[in-house]
Amino acid sequence: MSLTQIKAKITGTGMYVPPKVVSNFDLEKIMDTSDEWIRQRSGIETRHQVEDQGTADLAYEAALKAFESAQCSAKDIDLIILATLSADHMFPGSSALLQARLGLETTPSMDLRAQCSGFLYSLSVAKSFIESGAYKRILVVGAETHSPILDYTTRGRDVAVLFGDGAGAVIVEASPDATSQIGKVILHSQGQFADRLWVERPGTRGGSGKWLTQDHLAEGKQYPYMEGRYVYKHAVERLQEVVKEVLETEGLTIADIDCFLFHQANIRINEKVAELLHIPLEKCPSNIQKYGNCSAASIPMLLDEMVRSGRVKRGDKLLMAAFGAGFTWAGSVVRF
Ligand code: ACO
Repeated sequence: MSLTQIKAKITGTGMYVPPKVVSNFDLEKIMDTSDEWIRQRSGIETRHQVEDQGTADLAYEAALKAFESAQCSAKDIDLIILATLSADHMFPGSSALLQARLGLETTPSMDLRAQCSGFLYSLSVAKSFIESGAYKRILVVGAETHSPILDYTTRGRDVAVLFGDGAGAVIVEASPDATSQIGKVILHSQGQFADRLWVERPGTRGGSGKWLTQDHLAEGKQYPYMEGRYVYKHAVERLQEVVKEVLETEGLTIADIDCFLFHQANIRINEKVAELLHIPLEKCPSNIQKYGNCSAASIPMLLDEMVRSGRVKRGDKLLMAAFGAGFTWAGSVVRF
């Protein structure tokens, strides 16, 4: 196979969520919220939360499932890319912890920070490495442990109720034929909106040289802050744009796509995008009801569920699109 002919494909998928399930009714007991408010505004009914695991632990479990599905093992992997906004530590990256848990000695590993678009950004990096011939088999994981960084009091309710913990993984390898390949991954970001959805502290910037102070803690700056309506409006606009952009790039129409795998931030966002683009809702599966918003993990988790349930089959054209903090957004057509 010459370099110009190499295409990258997804050869295996896996996902993992920690066993503890927290329902909207459980949240009603610890903050001023209601099952009705959460379901109506987001579609979420339950989410999973870690008890004593971290992001690399969730990533590890998802990776094992993906190896099984791709019929390979950790030692066959020559690069690890882990997308997360909730790393185990500030440094080193969670990918290094994952690499060690997988029992690998010197396999390269990197974290990729593009928040809810992190999986698609990582897929783009993996595709480029495979297609350049630099690597042969890459593990791409999206993994998030949001619950330790959320404010589960009434002060933090607008954000805390939306997020869950989980991980999704895929194996990316060279594809011998065109029926199965990752199309161009279109990436965008707009950092001018960074402070509309962020965790400000701990941080190196804007704290008069202080990483984290008692004042920061008292102000709740260690918790995510989100301008919900602003984010909602931008998400609906940018997702529509990127769907149109990838379809145009691939010379496809909405009717050509078998399944739309949208980032699971809020069911209302995805239903609005589907309505505006005239995408039949039955082509837009969702699992946010069970897992909440799992940021970088949401698309690979949904993909894995769809593959294992038989809803997504080899050869299907999947349109993946995500929007998240940064702002970042991305899309791609994956011929599975
Ligand atoms: N329970 C009960 N009431 C609540 C809660 C809660 N958990 N949270 C907020 N409220 C109250 C508010 O205080 C407000 O009360 P007020 O009217 O008395 O001021 C009222 O409910 C309405 O609040 P809004 O924020 O206006 O509600 P909205 O209809 O906009 O829905 C939501 C909020 C769900 C956050 C929505 O704006 C949204 O989905 N935004 C986008 C989320 C998203 O896509 N995030 C990006 C991905 S995440 C990432 O990248 C990391």
